Amino acid sequence: MIGPQGSYASGLLGGDATAERERLGGIQDSVDGFTRQTLVGLGLAPDWTCLELGAGAGSVARWLAGYCTAGSVQAVDIDTALLGPADDPRLTVRRADITDASFRPGRFDLVHARFVLCHLPDRDAVLARAVSWLRPGGLLLVTDPYQLPAEDSPFPSVTRLMSAYEAAHVAVGADLTWSRRVPALLARAGLRDIGFAARPGCLGNGPGDRWRPLVDGAAHRMIGSGMVGRADMDAFHADLADPGFVDIPQITLAVWGRLPTP
Ligand SMILES: C[S@@+](CC[C@H](N)C(=O)[O-])C[C@H]1O[C@@H](n2cnc3c(N)ncnc32)[C@H](O)[C@@H]1O
Repeated sequence: MIGPQGSYASGLLGGDATAERERLGGIQDSVDGFTRQTLVGLGLAPDWTCLELGAGAGSVARWLAGYCTAGSVQAVDIDTALLGPADDPRLTVRRADITDASFRPGRFDLVHARFVLCHLPDRDAVLARAVSWLRPGGLLLVTDPYQLPAEDSPFPSVTRLMSAYEAAHVAVGADLTWSRRVPALLARAGLRDIGFAARPGCLGNGPGDRWRPLVDGAAHRMIGSGMVGRADMDAFHADLADPGFVDIPQITLAVWGRLPTP
């Protein structure tokens, strides 16, 4: 068996559009509520201008455009295929590489990046530049995973899968534990009012699972690493049907800071 959707392909780890759409849809379904709650709690206001980095399939950008009725949203991605054309006059879709030092999007009340920076080999430099895209008083919100130690899983199968998952990301320059450094990086960059909030990401637990699209998306690399085989993938899919199969391999960490006003 290859998988319920017939594919183990991926996006950032290389793969097809259907798998990437499913992977991004899974991310949005599981984290959009947390992101919205965090932004509203931080005082998101209707007149804010917003920059959404690595906008993906665009759920946050579209929501921001709906919320900021007297503001605007610039949604940036290196691949805008799944972002689609802007369907709101307050939303601008821009194709750009945010690691390019010549990328100068302007200055914003909110700069937001979710599940983007940890994937970039030069993430510290991009984070530092993102601070320069804030207006005085502006808010930078960075949300990234914090991968818990694979060996702590109560399931040996998850220990194997998550070890391979993390290794597959490291192989392409990602760091799934980088989020822990972000509070200190923001403080060192001159931001103040540093804060953070976390949300556990559920593997298994029936309909609560958010991991199947992520594991499937990385599967070809995980298998390619030799750390797991197709039998492990099949066992994972079988385990998902077991109500006793529940774990927390990763925490989503949202970290923010504000640029002081002069
Ligand atoms: C894991 S997805 C997250 C999408 C979205 N932020 C979300 O949370 O739903 C990462 C996104 O970052 C984009 N991306 C990766 N590298 C990028 C770069 N150098 N410049 C701009 N976008 C990039 C990818 O194309 C992808 O859409």
